Amino acid sequence: MENIGKVPVHVSIIMDGNGRWAGERGLDRSAGHIEGVESVRACTEAAVEYGVKYLSLYAFSEENWGRPKGEVSSLMSLMFKSMLGELQNFMDNGIRFMVLGHRDRLDSSLNEAIDACMEKTASNSRLTLIIFLSYSGKWDIMQAARRYAEDVLRHPDKADELLEMEPDGFSRYLVTAGIPDPDLIIRTSGEMRLSNYLLWQAAYSELLFSDVLWPDFRKREFAEALEAYSKRDRRYGKVK
Ligand code: IPE
Ligand code: IPE
Ligand code: MG
Repeated sequence: MENIGKVPVHVSIIMDGNGRWAGERGLDRSAGHIEGVESVRACTEAAVEYGVKYLSLYAFSEENWGRPKGEVSSLMSLMFKSMLGELQNFMDNGIRFMVLGHRDRLDSSLNEAIDACMEKTASNSRLTLIIFLSYSGKWDIMQAARRYAEDVLRHPDKADELLEMEPDGFSRYLVTAGIPDPDLIIRTSGEMRLSNYLLWQAAYSELLFSDVLWPDFRKREFAEALEAYSKRDRRYGKVK
């Protein structure tokens, strides 16, 4: 393990390119998703080793529901199986597991398994591994705004205070409440867009685009991304 200068607290990855990885090998797209799970495992291990505290992964967007039914159901069952298969590993390595997103759209059996896994790992504190599932940034901001409006209506005595709230206060309505914003967002496969990911939370994230397809993105690539991050100069709009 190399020594990396400034380690990000929260690394987030838009895991892209599974389909192309499979296509290059004449395989079905699902083979790419299956191989991608190995990259999740490798990057999780690397995150623990480098002392990253939060690793979040964009696994399935709200827009991804529009993919062919077969692909959606194979992705959901892969999620189910991988999560249960990794539970012991989460316990052994102090990993707190979370799934964030529009959970109402998931099957109740998957939701129950997710809740059980989240509860079991809730007090682990070495690394928080967050899977964004059925997530979109616009949905997150909308659900936050809805709950904010409900609070204003329900608590007229606190309405003035709520309406003067700063952005940090509003962040508490997002599904990422309590989780620091990502320091580094990596997108694999050469695409250079956010695809409706963490729109609010990415305000000051460092962005890193890698040409490597997700199933090929392993420890070495993760370490290189951390290395690149350590050389970035974050100014937050100020003059240094
Ligand atoms: C990322 O790989 C996984 C998901 C979005 C679920 P893709 O399935 O998008 O792979 P490409 O982009 O078609 O290669
Ligand atoms: C973004 O990848 C979503 C995830 C990685 C889960 P997509 O493959 O769905 O994004 P687009 O369609 O290329 O923007
Ligand atoms: Mg893609």
